[in-house]
Amino acid sequence: MKSTIAGIDLPDGAFAAVVTDALARVEDLLLTELSSGDEVLAEVATHLAKAGGKRFRPMFAILASHFGPEPVSDDVITAATVVEMIHLATLYHDDVMDEAPVRRGAQSANARWSNSIAILGGDFLFARASRLVSTLGPDFVRIIAETFAELVTGQMRETVGARGTDAVDHYLKVVWEKTGSLIAAAGRFGAMTAGAAPERIESLAKVGDIVGVAFQVSDDLIDIASPTDDSGKTPGTDLREGVHTLPVLLALTGDGPDSARLRELLLDPATGAATPLTDDAQVTEALELLVASAGMDAARARLAQMAEQAHAELATLPAGPARDAFSSLVDYTVQRVG
Ligand code: IPE
Ligand code: IPE
Ligand code: MG
Ligand code: MG
Repeated sequence: MKSTIAGIDLPDGAFAAVVTDALARVEDLLLTELSSGDEVLAEVATHLAKAGGKRFRPMFAILASHFGPEPVSDDVITAATVVEMIHLATLYHDDVMDEAPVRRGAQSANARWSNSIAILGGDFLFARASRLVSTLGPDFVRIIAETFAELVTGQMRETVGARGTDAVDHYLKVVWEKTGSLIAAAGRFGAMTAGAAPERIESLAKVGDIVGVAFQVSDDLIDIASPTDDSGKTPGTDLREGVHTLPVLLALTGDGPDSARLRELLLDPATGAATPLTDDAQVTEALELLVASAGMDAARARLAQMAEQAHAELATLPAGPARDAFSSLVDYTVQRVG
C-alpha cells in the first residue's frame, strides 16, 4: 500500500498512518498556539496557517524523529510545530519585503490588510514560537535563535545583493541561510526530541542542509515556470524585486540573443547591477525567455546533483520506511511544481 502526503510517497501503510497522525497533532497545536491571543491578532496570525501550505518542515522533523528511540513523542510534535511557526513568521515578513500579493493560494497578509499588520502578525508568530520552544529547554532555544539569525542574514544578504562578489556563490550562500538553515533545524529538532544518537542528529541536519538548498532552488524554478494555480504564488515575484536566482544568473551569462535580451531587461546598463522589473509586459517577456533558456536547464541539472548528494547522505542512515520516505521527499523536492 502507498499513501501520498504533500507529494511525498509513504510506501508502508502503517508508517503512513503514524506520520499522518503526527501531522494532525502538529496542526492542532499550531492552531491552538496561534489562536491564543487577542482576537485582533488571532485572525491575522491564523490567516496563512488556514490558507494552506505543504507542512514540509513538520514532515521533515517527523521523519527525522524516526531515527531516534521515541519517534512522534509529544516533544517531537512541539519541535515540528515550532519550526512551522518560525517558517510562517518569515512568510509574513517575506511577503512584505517582496511585495507579494498571493501566498498559499490566498491574499498575502500585506495585501489583505497592510504592511504594518503583516509585520505585526509575523512578530506575533515569532513570539508564540519562542514561547513554545522554551518548553523544550535551553538547547532548543539556542538552536532556533541561531537558525533564525542565519535566516535573517540570508534575507539581508539577498536584499543588499552580491556587491561585486561572485553572483552564483552569493546565491548559494543566501539560499542555505534563508531556507536551508531552517530545514536543517527541522531535521535536527526531530532527531533530538526523539532522543537520537549525536551522529544521527548530525546526519539528519546535513540532509536538511542539502535538501533545504535544493528546496529553494526548486522554489526559484517555480517562480519562473509555475502558474499560480500550482504554486499558490505570483510568478515573476523575484524579477519584480530585482532578485536574480540561479536560473536567471545562469541565463544571463549565455551568448545567444535570448541572453542578450535578458541582460537588456534585467541589468542596469550603466552598472550591470540587477534592476527590478516593473512593467507587466516585460515581466511576461522575461519569464518566457527564461522558461526556454539554457539557464533553466542548467539550474535543473544543479538541482539533480543536489538530489544525488542528498541520496548519498541518506544512504548512511539505517534502512526502513523513514529512510524510504526521505528518499521520496528528495525526489519530490526536485520534481515539485508548487
Ligand atoms: C516557501 O516555503 C518559502 C521558501 C523557503 C521557499 P514553502 O514552499 O514550504 O511554503 P508553504 O509552507 O508550502 O506555503
Ligand atoms: C523564501 O524566500 C525564504 C524565506 C521566506 C525565509 P522567497 O521570497 O524566495 O520565497 P517565496 O517564493 O516568496 O515563497
Ligand atoms: Mg518571497
Ligand atoms: Mg523573498
